[in-house]
Amino acid sequence: MTTKIQILLLSILLLPTISLAMVNIISPGSTLNASNTNQAWSSPNGTFSLGFIPINPPTSPPTFLAAIVYSGGIPIWSAGTIPVDSAAYLQLHPTEGNLRLVSGSGHTVWDSATANLGVSSASLDDYGNLVLTRNGTIQVWASFEHPTDTVVPGQKFSTRHVLRNGLYSFRLLSNGTVNLKWNDSTAYWSRGTFNSSNNRTSPTLGLQPTGILSVSDPTLTRGAIMAYSNDYNQSGEIFRFLRLDSDGNLRIYGSDKGSGIQTVRWVAVEDQCRVFGFCGNMGICSYSGKNPICRCPSQNFELLDPKDSRKGCKRKVATEDCAGNLTMLTMEHTLFLTFPPQSLFAVEGSEIFMVGISSCRMSCLVNPTCDASTILSDGGGMCYYKMPGFISGYTNPALPSTSYVKVCSPAVPNASPSMRSDGWRMHAWALAMVVIGTILGLIALEGSLWWWCCRSSRKIGGLSLSAKYALIEYASGAPVEFSYRELRRLTKEFKEKLGSGGFGAVYRGVLADRTVVAVKRVEGIEEGERQFRMVVSTLSCTHHLNLVRLIGFCCERSHRLLVYEFMQNKSLDNFLFQTDDKPGKLLNWETRFNIALGTARGITYLHDECPESIIHCDIKPENILLDKNYSAKVSDFGLAKVATLKDHIDYLAPEWVQENAAITSKADVYSYGMVLLETVSGRRNMEVSAETNWKVLWAWAYEEFEKGNVVGIVDRRLGGQEVDVEQVMRAIKVSFWCIQEQPSERPRMGKVVHMLEGITEIHRPPPPKALNTLLPTATILN
Ligand SMILES: *[C@@H]1O[C@H](CO)[C@@H](O)[C@H](O)[C@H]1NC(C)=O
Ligand SMILES: *[C@@H]1O[C@H](CO)[C@@H](O)[C@H](O)[C@H]1NC(C)=O
Ligand SMILES: *[C@@H]1O[C@H](CO)[C@@H](O)[C@H](O)[C@H]1NC(C)=O
Ligand SMILES: *[C@@H]1O[C@H](CO)[C@@H](O)[C@H](O)[C@H]1NC(C)=O
Ligand SMILES: *[C@@H]1O[C@H](CO)[C@@H](O)[C@H](O)[C@H]1NC(C)=O
Ligand SMILES: *[C@@H]1O[C@H](CO)[C@@H](O)[C@H](O)[C@H]1NC(C)=O
Ligand SMILES: *[C@@H]1O[C@H](CO)[C@@H](O)[C@H](O)[C@H]1NC(C)=O
Ligand SMILES: *[C@@H]1O[C@H](CO)[C@@H](O)[C@H](O)[C@H]1NC(C)=O
Ligand SMILES: *[C@@H]1O[C@H](CO)[C@@H](O)[C@H](O)[C@H]1NC(C)=O
Repeated sequence: MTTKIQILLLSILLLPTISLAMVNIISPGSTLNASNTNQAWSSPNGTFSLGFIPINPPTSPPTFLAAIVYSGGIPIWSAGTIPVDSAAYLQLHPTEGNLRLVSGSGHTVWDSATANLGVSSASLDDYGNLVLTRNGTIQVWASFEHPTDTVVPGQKFSTRHVLRNGLYSFRLLSNGTVNLKWNDSTAYWSRGTFNSSNNRTSPTLGLQPTGILSVSDPTLTRGAIMAYSNDYNQSGEIFRFLRLDSDGNLRIYGSDKGSGIQTVRWVAVEDQCRVFGFCGNMGICSYSGKNPICRCPSQNFELLDPKDSRKGCKRKVATEDCAGNLTMLTMEHTLFLTFPPQSLFAVEGSEIFMVGISSCRMSCLVNPTCDASTILSDGGGMCYYKMPGFISGYTNPALPSTSYVKVCSPAVPNASPSMRSDGWRMHAWALAMVVIGTILGLIALEGSLWWWCCRSSRKIGGLSLSAKYALIEYASGAPVEFSYRELRRLTKEFKEKLGSGGFGAVYRGVLADRTVVAVKRVEGIEEGERQFRMVVSTLSCTHHLNLVRLIGFCCERSHRLLVYEFMQNKSLDNFLFQTDDKPGKLLNWETRFNIALGTARGITYLHDECPESIIHCDIKPENILLDKNYSAKVSDFGLAKVATLKDHIDYLAPEWVQENAAITSKADVYSYGMVLLETVSGRRNMEVSAETNWKVLWAWAYEEFEKGNVVGIVDRRLGGQEVDVEQVMRAIKVSFWCIQEQPSERPRMGKVVHMLEGITEIHRPPPPKALNTLLPTATILN
C-alpha cells in the first residue's frame, strides 16, 4: 500500500519533466495487457491514466476492468462493465481503428464501434477524456460521450447521455430535470430547476471543479444550480466527481489529489432506504447503526441469496402452493415504496380512499391480483395495492404507515427488536466476562460475579442507548424512538431548561455517549399519535447543513417530545440585540453574512427540496441557532401543522392579518427579509428610536438606502471593522425585496440565495409599502 503511494508520489514528481518529452499519442496497434496492471496510457500531465484495474473486492481468480483512473486510483470510466480475466487485452485495432477489449478466450467484450471510420490515433487528455481521432484532429469517439457511472469536471452530460449502475440509471431530461430510475421505469428521485413551461434547448449538466452541480443551456449565462457539495469552494487540490453508485444513490465525492480516498460531499437520496429496490424484491430496508440493512418481511420468507441480502426475498411457500389459508402479515411502521408507474393500483386502477386500515388489509386478501398493500397513515388514509411484481419495503419506527403482505398461514413475524437487544446483552456480557475474567483470574469468582452484575447492567443500558444513537449518525435518516423514562433520565427530570420556543419548553439532556441534546416538550398539540409520527417522519427527511437535526422523538401516552442536536452558541438574537445588561460576543460582518446565507439555504431546502414542502411560519432570530463555528441552523420547523398557529408568530407577513389570504412559502420570505435586515443592522425590527428617526427599522433603512447611505444601516458597533460593502448592498436590497407587501413580488427563497451569492443580479427594490398595515401590529408585538 505505502509502496504504491510512494511510486505514485514519485511518478507525480517526475511527470512534469517526462511530459515535456512525451506526447501521449496512442497509435494503432497499441495494446494493454490485463496481466500487467502497471502498464497504462497516461494523460500528458499524469492526472489520469487508462489501464487494467483489479475488481474490488478481489475475486479468485483475479478479474479486471479496463478503466480510466484518476491519480490515486479512482476509476471514472470503464470499457464496459463486464470483468475480464488476466489474459485479456485492450487494443486500438491496428488497421480498423476501433478500440476493443478482448477477453482471454478471444471474445470481444467491449468495442468502441469505430471500425473503418478512419481513426488514426487515440489520446487521453488531462480532464480524463479518452478521444479517438481521425486525421489527427477530428474527434470520432470520446469517453465523455459514453459515460459509465461517473461525471467529472469538464465533462458535459447531456440529454443523450445516461449513467448506469446495475438496474439504476441517471438522466437529464430535455426540460432540465434530472432523475434517478430503477429498471428504466420507476423514477424514485428527481430534481428540476427549470419550470415546465420552459422547453430548454439542449441543456447540459456539469460538475464545476469547486463542487457545484449545475444545469445550463445556451440561453442561461450562469446555469441553474442543482446541488452544492458540502466542501464547496474549499481550497486545496480536490478532485470532485459525481457517481451513480451500485446502491442506486447519486453522490458527489471529493478526493484530495493522489490520496485515492474519496469522501461523500453530497448525496441525492439522503435516506438510503428510500432508494427503490435497494433491498431487492420483497426485501425490507432498515438501519443498523448508520448502515442500511436488508431483511425479509417475516419468517415466512427467505433470502434469495443468503450471501447477498440485497438480492431480495422469496416466500418459503408460494401463495399458489399454499395448502391452508392465505393471510395478511401485518408490518407496523413499514412502507412499500410507491412511485409511478407501479404505485397505487386499486381495484379499478385508480386511487381508493379507505375508511380504516382493516379494509386495506382485507380487500387485498380477497383480491387475487393483490400481493401486498400499504396504507399511509397521513390522514388521507390512502391504500396502495401492490400487484405481484417488484415490491420494495422500508421499516422505521418513525414511519406512519402499516403494510400487509399475503402469506401462507400462519404468519410468523421476525424476532422482535427486544429479542435483538437481548442478543446485544449476551454479546456485551460475553465480552465483559472475557476481559474481567482475564484480569481477575480465579479470584473471588462469586464476589466478582456480583460486581459485574451491578456494573455491567448499567453499562449495557448505556450501550444500547448509544447504539441507538449511532442509528442517526449522518445520512441514516432514521430518528430514534425514546421512551419517556429514558428522556426523563437523560434530562435529569427536565432539570435544566434551555429556553422556551414557540411550541414548548426546551431542556438540556445528555445521551449515554455524552452527546448533549436539546429535548423539546411539544405543547399545544391536540392531534393523536399518528399525526405526531407523521410530523416526525417529515422532520426526519430534512437533512441539511443549515437545519437543526432531529435525533429522536418520544410518543408515549400524552407525551410528545422531540430530541434535537444541541447548539453550543444558542440563537442569533443573543448576538444581534445586546443590551448593557446582556453583553456578548459581537458577530463580525463575514459571520453575519454567512449566517444570513446559511439561513436562506436552510429555508430553501425546506421549501423546495424536501420530499414534502415545509413552510416554516415562524422565522425569527430566536429560531436561528448557531453551532460552534457560528454556522446557522434553522430550528422549530415542521411543527406548524400540528400546533395551533395563533399567537406564535412574531414576524407577521401582511397576508397573515388579511382575511382569507393564503399563507404560502412567501410568508417565510417576508419574515426572512425582516431577520436579514436585523442581522445587518443589529436592531430590532420594531425598535423605534431617535437613531432610526422614530421609524420602524425597515422604513428608516429604506430612507437611508434611497439616500445612498447603505453603510449607515450596518450595525454601528461594527464601526472600524472591515465590511464588504458590496455584500451589504446585496443583503439590503434582498431584504427589501423580501418584505414587499404583495407575496408575488417577493422572490422565492432559492432566488434569495442566488441573489445573496451574487449569482443573480438584483434590481433596485421598490419601497415596501406595508407601513400602514403594519403599524398597529407593531404596537401589539411590542
Ligand atoms: C501482451 O501480451 C502478449 C501476449 O501475451 C504479448 O505478445 C505482448 O507483447 C504483450 N504486450 C505488452 C505491451 O506487454
Ligand atoms: C493537469 O492538467 C489539468 C487540466 O489542465 C489541470 O487541472 C491539473 O492541475 C494538471 N495537473 C498537474 C499535476 O499539472
Ligand atoms: C486530413 O484529411 C484531408 C482530406 O480528408 C487531407 O487533405 C489532409 O491532408 C488531412 N490532414 C492530415 C493532417 O492528415
Ligand atoms: C425490468 O423491466 C423489464 C421490462 O421493462 C422486466 O421484464 C424486468 O422483469 C424488470 N426487472 C425486474 C428486476 O423487475
Ligand atoms: C416560468 O417561466 C416563465 C417563462 O420564462 C416565467 O415567466 C415564470 O416566472 C417562471 N416561473 C417560475 C416559477 O420560475
Ligand atoms: C420534466 O419532464 C418530465 C418528463 O416529461 C416531467 O415528469 C417533469 O415533471 C418535468 N419537470 C418539470 C420541472 O417540468
Ligand atoms: C419540448 O421539446 C421536445 C423536443 O424538442 C418536444 O418533443 C416537446 O413536445 C417539447 N415540449 C414542449 C412543452 O414544448
Ligand atoms: C471561493 O473562495 C475564494 C477564495 O478562497 C473566494 O475569493 C471566493 O469569493 C469564493 N467564492 C464563492 C462563490 O464563495
Ligand atoms: C381456514 O379458514 C377457514 C374459514 O375461516 C377456517 O374454518 C379454517 O379452520 C382455516 N384453516 C386453517 C388451516 O387455518
